Amino acid sequence: MLITEREKLSEEVGQLIEKHGPGRAALMPTLQGIQKKYSFISEYAMQLVADKLGIHPVEVYGVVSFFSFLYDKPHGRFIIRLCQTISCDLAGKDRVARQLESDLGIKFGETTPDGKFSLEWANCIGMCDQGPAMLVNDQVFLKVTPEKVHDILEGCRKVFGAHALQSEEVA
Ligand code: FES
Repeated sequence: MLITEREKLSEEVGQLIEKHGPGRAALMPTLQGIQKKYSFISEYAMQLVADKLGIHPVEVYGVVSFFSFLYDKPHGRFIIRLCQTISCDLAGKDRVARQLESDLGIKFGETTPDGKFSLEWANCIGMCDQGPAMLVNDQVFLKVTPEKVHDILEGCRKVFGAHALQSEEVA
């Protein structure tokens, strides 16, 4: 018998909840587990989590929409977040932003058509004396200049290439 995508997801959500415990405390690690695997949390996944934890779906939607690191839509393999708060603004974040947009061919809030990069604004990440500050997934880059943008993106592309190669070898 073929297992449908929905059945597979339901099974995986069940396993995550079993791993993290049945109570409300399992909510966040379960959502993070789903995102790690699928890169976003679909409405159906949120509904499953709510059903299996016995909580109202609105509570799950609320958590997903509150935390900026949780996504309810697909996004790029690399999420670039440039700090837009005052110290980084004064340190030249606009020039860095223009370089990122030009190199990637997208605006902030968008994802490249190949699914590699998403561009987003961030608020202060606590590195104000070393701005402009930028996050690429969990990695922090400080004193970013337009010149450094090219190297940072190249580094990401190399990592992506290596992953793609590994996936091809496994397939
Ligand atoms: S203002 Fe950008 S890190 Fe604080």
